[in-house]
Amino acid sequence: MTAGSTAPVDYASLKKKFQPFLSRRVENRSLKCFWNASELSDDVIELAGGMPNERFFPVESIDLKISKVPFNDNPKWHNSFTTAHLDLNSPIELPIARSLQYAETKGLPPLLHFVKDMVCRINRPVFSDETESNWDVILSGGSNDSMFKVFETICDESTTVMIEEFTFTPAMSNVEATGAKVIPIKMDLTFDRERQGIDVEDLTRLLDNWSTGPYKHLNKPKVLYTIATGQNPTGMSVPRWKREKIYQLAQKHDFLIVEDDPYGYMYFPSYNPQNPLENPYDSSDLTIERYLNDFLMKSFLTLDTDARVIRLETFSKIFAPGLRLSFIVANKFLLQKILDLADITTRAPSGTSQAIVYSTIKAMAESEMSSSVSFRDAMFESWIKWIMQIASKYNHRKNVTLKALYETESYQAGHFTVMEPSAGMFIIIKLDWGIFDRPDNLPQQMDILDEFLVKNGVKLVLGYKMAVCQEYSEQNSDFLRLTIAYAKDDDQLIEASRRIGNGIKEFFDTVRS
Ligand SMILES: Cc1ncc(COP(=O)(O)O)c(C=O)c1O
Repeated sequence: MTAGSTAPVDYASLKKKFQPFLSRRVENRSLKCFWNASELSDDVIELAGGMPNERFFPVESIDLKISKVPFNDNPKWHNSFTTAHLDLNSPIELPIARSLQYAETKGLPPLLHFVKDMVCRINRPVFSDETESNWDVILSGGSNDSMFKVFETICDESTTVMIEEFTFTPAMSNVEATGAKVIPIKMDLTFDRERQGIDVEDLTRLLDNWSTGPYKHLNKPKVLYTIATGQNPTGMSVPRWKREKIYQLAQKHDFLIVEDDPYGYMYFPSYNPQNPLENPYDSSDLTIERYLNDFLMKSFLTLDTDARVIRLETFSKIFAPGLRLSFIVANKFLLQKILDLADITTRAPSGTSQAIVYSTIKAMAESEMSSSVSFRDAMFESWIKWIMQIASKYNHRKNVTLKALYETESYQAGHFTVMEPSAGMFIIIKLDWGIFDRPDNLPQQMDILDEFLVKNGVKLVLGYKMAVCQEYSEQNSDFLRLTIAYAKDDDQLIEASRRIGNGIKEFFDTVRS
């Protein structure tokens, strides 16, 4: 058994094992509390907390009109709305007298219970005890906020953090703001779903030979930050066998895995060139069980025998980003330390956002509920059904875009390849230099390409701008990232693909002349 692989099940052993992972700032972090809410009981007159009575709130009620189908403007969906009414006293478990009031930092109980139940059903941590009491969930203000709190808690100047060589750069900024050092982890950039994502052989070599390797001047890594499913920017997902190997490395070299997963629910079945618009989400055979078991990539939590995974999920991509609502899953000890930071910074995430999300899911469940299922099951099933509809739309958009890109003259002339994504909202287009030597000044060339694209009326992200270290990823960064999320319809995606093709063709025609 390796040093890191004993399974800590109770709080005391979690504390012993994970205390060394805390940043030096955690020591100075404590809420100087002047008032204890737990002392309240019904016959005590509350004159302690500085909470405005709910009758001071200018809002008496909120009525929600809720779409049961995304893009709900087709006459054939005539009955696809439902409603929810919230006022000072209802719904009883989360009236607005409660959601507009100061509240528990970790989140309001009804939504928190829903979210924990969801994690239990889809990605229950292996180390969990029978009563699910050694891990927990807290709500947060978007995954950006989650990662800020997580990195503030586990990183300082002595920490080295491993990040996929291309990443969502704000994550890197968050790490670096703590004084920690970021090192890039090699990725297999391929559309082969069994090989894509983190290069585990390279990672093994790096960690096994740390003291003689390129980063020997840094401390051994304490953290891996990964967007393992539907990665941003690449759209790739680390296959299960690689997750197992990465987890074994985490045990052997004793590092935490921070798994940021905003895109995992948007799983893409493989593109079928014979029938490009085929969409398995439309099949009546696709049950919730099949979606959860056969489509979704399981979280690192489902490998986590020793409580070293911190998982971040968000409502941004499956509900709405303006809510600023997300959640963090982790062992009880680390989560408490993260919560201590929230206590002195943001406190609870927006109560209005929590109420909207909770009431929406509840209303979806009520409108569809059959007498044969419990309300808890109905909430879960309704929410997953909504998510499946979102995933279906994204899958359709991905198919439309791939088809349109493959039909461009530029693609057919061999100017680029498309890395078909396995989940999420991004597609990457990799330039094929063909008979030309790959230029030395790749970033400048990509900037020139960007000008051609803009001239053609389309804006994408340049891959090199999402590199953890441009020098390290020099050979791989000649790609463009596009998102299928924001376009208003298929026609816009088709037109954008045509413009991309034209822009790349003009770029190569210029390079060639
Ligand atoms: C990998 C990743 N993490 C986090 C976020 C931000 O999520 P949130 O809107 O919940 O802050 C994004 C994108 O916006 C992302 O791509």
